[in-house]
Amino acid sequence: MNLFRTKSIEQMRETAAHSGMAKTLGAFDLILLGIGCVIGTGIFVLTGVAAAKYAGPAVTVSFMISGLACALAGLAYAEFSSIVPVSGSAYTYTYASLGEFIAFIVGWNLILEYTVTASAVASGWSGYVTGLLLSAGIDPGHALTHVPADGGIINIPAIFITLLLSVLLIRGTQESTKLNRILVGVKLTAIAIFLLLAIPHVDTMNWEPFMPFGFSGVSAGAAVIVFAYLGVDSIATAAEETKNPAHDMPTGIIASLLICTVLYIAVTAVMTGNVPYTELDNAEPVAFVLRELGYRFGSALVGTGAIAGLTTVLLVMMYAQTRAFFAMSRDGLIPQSVCKIHPRFATPHRITIIVGIAVAIISGFTPINVIAEMCSVGTLFAFIISSIGVMVMRRKYPDLPRPFRCPAIYVVGTLAIVSCGYIMYNLSSMTWERFWVWSALGILIYFLHGYRHSRENKEDAA
Ligand code: ALA
Repeated sequence: MNLFRTKSIEQMRETAAHSGMAKTLGAFDLILLGIGCVIGTGIFVLTGVAAAKYAGPAVTVSFMISGLACALAGLAYAEFSSIVPVSGSAYTYTYASLGEFIAFIVGWNLILEYTVTASAVASGWSGYVTGLLLSAGIDPGHALTHVPADGGIINIPAIFITLLLSVLLIRGTQESTKLNRILVGVKLTAIAIFLLLAIPHVDTMNWEPFMPFGFSGVSAGAAVIVFAYLGVDSIATAAEETKNPAHDMPTGIIASLLICTVLYIAVTAVMTGNVPYTELDNAEPVAFVLRELGYRFGSALVGTGAIAGLTTVLLVMMYAQTRAFFAMSRDGLIPQSVCKIHPRFATPHRITIIVGIAVAIISGFTPINVIAEMCSVGTLFAFIISSIGVMVMRRKYPDLPRPFRCPAIYVVGTLAIVSCGYIMYNLSSMTWERFWVWSALGILIYFLHGYRHSRENKEDAA
């Protein structure tokens, strides 16, 4: 058995060059895809609870810790994406560096990031839209907007938005990025208005005590808040649809991460500077702050920003899942029949339909929010493995052309592993248990299907 067989870079590039996907994306599109996928529930919803229950005003530091961990891993992704510009992100990088078995486990865990997050976000989207309809005097009814576990029958808004975005993704990556562009503009405008209105009212007294729950609270906050950064790696799944991936990929990853981190730190600092952190324990902290300041349109503004934000997160998460699966199926690790490219739209339509239906079923019928915490563990795992992988590549192929070279790679890589590991360590024990069960299931599937059907296996046998 050869569990650690790797794919050669040349072979990967060759396959990617003939994938049939349309190369339409530039660096700006990638930055917007990154912002589209990153800014969402994390800032509009989770910040309040993280400040009130875990970190206090030092939730800003929690954001810095998570942001730093993601930035360090992001540098590893940036280097990888410049040498292996192939769909599949961490899965592909691991296949090139650490071998097939670990690559499969990484790909399997990316499902936690992409599909589980997409389902949780679709359900959050439904909550916001239902709230909006109710405030406009339209009652869509509890039964049709809630899953059975919450006393309903089916969550129709969640299914509706998921299927709608799936159709858009099939129609073309360019069409999808156009919508993404508009909605990212809306959510950034909402954030800008919030900052402009709230900055003049910051009272530094609210930042005291800065760390009411000590540093352990800040760390626990970082574990919750890392959710806000999920999706930054999704850019890397777009490599085969990017015009000049060697240059645009690193730019997209690093720039979107920087922009999001700066916005997160600004929003949380302003939020906790406006009201005592103890009052932020609610699901709409940004709107709450605006209402406290007397801006009555706060809810509408944030509602619009949040709906736009959640739509783009859902869109890009589903997009990333289809591209990660595409790479895995092309390699034979999941059934190859699903990786066909649509002759007219030049998108992997079969996988997109499968992912769309899966997300629709999960968000339409299951209490997905209960397991939403699992999303972060899959991503952090992929970050750690990719950081190890990029160092292995430096050793294995020191002379490979690297359009983007991560500075001080062994220091950066090690720090990425330590910081992501530290955040993982702070996740709840229940999350860890589920992570092991999920990974064990992945290992089983690899041995029952992936190993035998892998293209590399067939080539070895031939
Ligand atoms: N980062 C995404 C969000 O905060 C998943 O909604």
